[in-house]
Amino acid sequence: MADARVMRAFLVLLLTTLTKAELTQLVIGEEIIVSFDGHEIFHHTPENPVITFGVGTANYTEDHGMFDVQEDIVAVVPIDRLVRASNRTGSVRITLGSTVDPEVEIRLTADWYVFGYIGMFNNLMTHSPYNRMWLRLSADADEKVFGGGEQFTYFNLRGHHFPIWTSEQGVGRDAGIIANITDIEGDAGGEYYTTYWPEPSFVSSKHYSLVFDDYNYMVMNFSAPNYHEFYIHDNSFMLRMYFNETMMNLIPKRSNYLTPLPDWIITGAILSLQRGTQEVLDYYELAKGAGVNVSALWIQDWSGTTETIFGHRVYWNWQWNETYYPGLDEVITGLAQEGVGVMAYINPYLIEGSTLYEEADALGFLMADAQGESYKQDFGGFLAGTVDLVNSEARDWYSNKIVENMINLGLRGWMADFGEYTRTDMFTRGYTTETPAQIHNHFPSLWASCNSYALNIAGKHGEVVPFMRSGGRGSNRDTYLAWAGDQNVDWSLADGVASTIVAALNLGLSGMCVTHFDIGGYTTQPPVLQRSKELFLRSAEYAVFTPVMRTHEGNKPKANHQFYSDEDTLQQFARLTQMHARLAPYTRAVVDACFDAGTPAQAPMFLYFEEDPGSWDIQYQYMFGPDLIVAPIIHKGEESQTVYIPGGEDSWQHLWEGVIVSGPGEVEVSVPLGYPAVFYRQGSAWAPLFQEIARDFGAGFVPRA
Ligand SMILES: *[C@@H]1O[C@H](CO)[C@@H](O)[C@H](O)[C@H]1NC(C)=O
Ligand SMILES: *[C@@H]1O[C@H](CO)[C@@H](O)[C@H](O)[C@H]1NC(C)=O
Ligand SMILES: *[C@@H]1O[C@H](CO)[C@@H](O)[C@H](O)[C@H]1NC(C)=O
Ligand SMILES: *[C@@H]1O[C@H](CO)[C@@H](O)[C@H](O)[C@H]1NC(C)=O
Ligand SMILES: *[C@@H]1O[C@H](CO)[C@@H](O)[C@H](O)[C@H]1NC(C)=O
Ligand SMILES: *[C@@H]1O[C@H](CO)[C@@H](O)[C@H](O)[C@H]1NC(C)=O
Ligand SMILES: *[C@@H]1O[C@H](CO)[C@@H](O)[C@H](O)[C@H]1NC(C)=O
Repeated sequence: MADARVMRAFLVLLLTTLTKAELTQLVIGEEIIVSFDGHEIFHHTPENPVITFGVGTANYTEDHGMFDVQEDIVAVVPIDRLVRASNRTGSVRITLGSTVDPEVEIRLTADWYVFGYIGMFNNLMTHSPYNRMWLRLSADADEKVFGGGEQFTYFNLRGHHFPIWTSEQGVGRDAGIIANITDIEGDAGGEYYTTYWPEPSFVSSKHYSLVFDDYNYMVMNFSAPNYHEFYIHDNSFMLRMYFNETMMNLIPKRSNYLTPLPDWIITGAILSLQRGTQEVLDYYELAKGAGVNVSALWIQDWSGTTETIFGHRVYWNWQWNETYYPGLDEVITGLAQEGVGVMAYINPYLIEGSTLYEEADALGFLMADAQGESYKQDFGGFLAGTVDLVNSEARDWYSNKIVENMINLGLRGWMADFGEYTRTDMFTRGYTTETPAQIHNHFPSLWASCNSYALNIAGKHGEVVPFMRSGGRGSNRDTYLAWAGDQNVDWSLADGVASTIVAALNLGLSGMCVTHFDIGGYTTQPPVLQRSKELFLRSAEYAVFTPVMRTHEGNKPKANHQFYSDEDTLQQFARLTQMHARLAPYTRAVVDACFDAGTPAQAPMFLYFEEDPGSWDIQYQYMFGPDLIVAPIIHKGEESQTVYIPGGEDSWQHLWEGVIVSGPGEVEVSVPLGYPAVFYRQGSAWAPLFQEIARDFGAGFVPRA
C-alpha cells in the first residue's frame, strides 16, 4: 500500500513536470473555483455550493420490470462553509462545513493522475445522518452532453434529467396512445429515460468525459444553463474526468481484452425461428432456397414453452427440451457443416418447479426474501427465482450450467436476456457491502460476467457470442454484443425503429461499441401494433449497415410481417442479407476498431467531424465506421431521404446513384425500398468494395423522377 502511494506521488510529480496541463484552485473569500487547464470543473459559492446534503427515504416498487421510485426528502443541508483549502501540484483538498449543521464536515479531493484523468471524491470527516447528496459541476449554456448509457429518446441529453436505474424500457415510452394504453393495463408505459442500460457517465462537447464509479441510484440532471446536477442516493461520490482535444479520444475504452466478434456473426443474417425442430428446419430450407445468407438460427424456445394467461411463453429452465426439439444435437452438427450456427436463449431467472430451480433452491443459490426463503417473483403468468449472481459460488454454478447445457450442446451463442428486475427487498446469500439498490444496478454487469466466465471455462471466447440487453457500469468489460431490447413494431420516434439509432449512438459513447436490434421490432399488440412489410424491409436494409443483422418474430408472430410472409419479402430479404455478407470485410475492420480502441461501430457524425458545428445535432443518422454515412428510413412511406453531409475535405459518393457531394449541408436522395440512403467517402481504401456492392446490388435502383 505504502509503495503504491509513493509510486502515485512520484507519477503525479513526473507527469505534472511533463505536461503544461494544470489542476488549479482559486480561492477568493468564500468562493472556490477548481479548474483543469482552463476548464472550470466547479465553482463553489455559499449560495451555490458544490455539495448539498440531504436525508431521505425511497421505495423502489417493481411491477414487471418497471420501477416506481417514490422519494421522501426530510432534510436538505447545504455544505456552504469553507473551512480550509490546500493544494499542491496536481492535487486539491478542500474542507467544507455547513452553516445549517455545525457538526458536519467533509473533505473534497481532486487529483490529477498520470493515467490521464482527474479523480474526484469526497470523504465525511464527521459522523453524519446524511444519505443523499447533490453535486453541482460547472456547465456552459451552449454545452452539449451525450451518452448516459443506452438512452433511446434524446441524443443530446441537455435540458433533461436521467435517473440511473436499470429497468424495462417501457412500451410506448411517451405520452402517446400506446404508452397510455399500456399504462392503463399495467404500469408498462415507460418514460423518455427508462432504459435497460443506464450508465452514470457522459461525454461533453467541452471536450471532457465524466464517469461515476459506483452503482448508486442517481439522477443526472442536465437542465440548468450553468451547472450539471447529480443527485445521488449516498453521502459520497467518486468520479473520473477525462480531458482531450479530440472527442474520439474521450470514448471509454473496453478494459477487458475481449477477443473481437467472430466472422460468422458479422456475415449473413441470424434468423429467429421457433416452435420445434421441424418448423425451424422448414423455414431454414425456405430461406436457404431463396438465397438468404444465413449465419445462424436463433431458437428462443429451445427449452420448451409453457402456457400462461399471457399466452405462450418460453419455459425458463435452461436445458434442451428433447421432446419439443427432437434431434437438436444432430441438427446442430449438421448445420455446422453448412457453416450455419444455432443460438438459443437464457436469462438469470428459473421458473418455479423446474429442475434447475429445484437444484438452485436446494443449494441456496437463489436470491432470498427477508425470511431467507428463495424469492419468487411474478414474471407475468408464472413465478421465478433469481440466480444470486452476487454470490460468486452461485455465479460459478450458473456459468457451469451454461457450459454444460448450452456450449457443450454446440450452441454458437444465445440471447442473454433480462437482468433489470432485481427488487430492493431481495437479498443475496453471498457476501457484499452493497445495498439492495446498489445490487439492483450492479446486477446486469454480474450477469454479463457470468456469461463471459462460461466462455472462459469452455475456452470459447471469439467463437461463441452471448448478446445482452441489460447493462450498466462495467458491463462493457464482459459484453461482446448488445441489442436494443424490445421496440414496438411501429414507426414511433419514442419506441420504434428510430429509437434504436439514438440508443446505438449513446451506448457507443458510453463505451459499448457494438450493438444491434430486432429487425422490425418486437412488441406486438394487434390490432394496434402489428409489423408491416414496409417496416420489416426498411429495418432490414438499415441492419445491413450495422455489425449484426438479426430477425425476431416478435411476441405475437402471427400478427407480424416476417421474412417468410410472402415470396417478394423473401427475395428482398435474401438480397439484403447477401449485401450485408458482401460488406463483411469492411464490417470486420469496423468491429475490430471497436474491440481495439473502443471506436463505436455506429458513431455520431461529430465523432468524425467535430470541426463541423452542424454535425453535432444529427440524431437519426450515423457513421458506420469511418467511411460510410448511413441515414436509415424512420418514417413510413418515404420516397426520398435527407442526408446531412459533414463539412471537411472529403467528398462523398451516393452508393446507388453515384452522385458526388461535399458538405456541410443537406442533400436529398431517392430511397426506393431496398436502397437505403448511404454515402461512402471518396478516396476510401474500401471504395472498390463499395463499388462492387453498388454494381452487384444496384441494378434495380430507379431514382424518383
Ligand atoms: C493554490 O492555492 C493558492 C491559494 O488559493 C493559489 O494562490 C494558487 O494559485 C493555488 N495553486 C494551484 C496550483 O492551484
Ligand atoms: C415506503 O413504503 C412504506 C411502507 O409502505 C411507507 O410507509 C412509506 O411512506 C413509503 N415511503 C415513500 C417515500 O413513499
Ligand atoms: C396520454 O396521457 C397523458 C397524461 O394523462 C395525456 O396528457 C396525453 O394527452 C395522453 N395522450 C394521448 C395520445 O392520449
Ligand atoms: C433538474 O434541474 C432543473 C433546473 O435546475 C430543475 O428545475 C428540475 O426540478 C430538476 N429535475 C429533477 C428531476 O431534479
Ligand atoms: C488525447 O488522447 C490521445 C490518445 O489517447 C493521447 O495520446 C493524448 O495524450 C491525449 N491528450 C491529452 C491532453 O490527454
Ligand atoms: C454468405 O456470404 C459469405 C461472404 O460473402 C460467403 O462466403 C458465403 O458463401 C455466403 N453463404 C451463403 C449461404 O450464401
Ligand atoms: C418440453 O416442451 C413441451 C412443449 O413446449 C412442453 O409441453 C414440455 O413440458 C417440455 N418438457 C420439459 C421437460 O420441459
